[in-house]
Amino acid sequence: MNDAGWESICPFEVLEVERGATVLAHGRAVAIFRTHDDRLFALGNHDPFSGASVLARGIVGTRGDIPFVASPMHKHAFDLRSGQCLDDESVHVASYDVRVVEGVVEVGPRRELA
Ligand code: FES
Repeated sequence: MNDAGWESICPFEVLEVERGATVLAHGRAVAIFRTHDDRLFALGNHDPFSGASVLARGIVGTRGDIPFVASPMHKHAFDLRSGQCLDDESVHVASYDVRVVEGVVEVGPRRELA
C-alpha cells in the first residue's frame, strides 16, 4: 500500500547510528537521525540561527530523556521529536513523521506545530 504523503528514502540499514543523513523529501532537505536505540527522527536540515543547511551534521545526544541534535554552527540543541530548540523556546525547526516499512525509511508530511 502506498499511502499518500509518504516518500521512500533509503534502506534503514544504511543509516549510521547517531549520525545524521541529509535526504531530499517532499522537495526539501531533511535530516534523518537514527539514535542508539534505533529510533528514527526527521527534522528540517536548516539551522534557523545560522541560516545554513547543517543539522544533519550535528552531534546527537540526550538531555535527560530528550533526544536532541546540536547544530554544528552555534551548538544550539533541537529536540529530535519536535524540532523545538531546547535553548530558545521561541525557535523550532520543521519536523516530519518518519517510519520504516519493510526495511525502507519513509518520510511523511511535515508536522503541524503542536
Ligand atoms: S542553533 Fe544557534 S541558537 Fe539554537
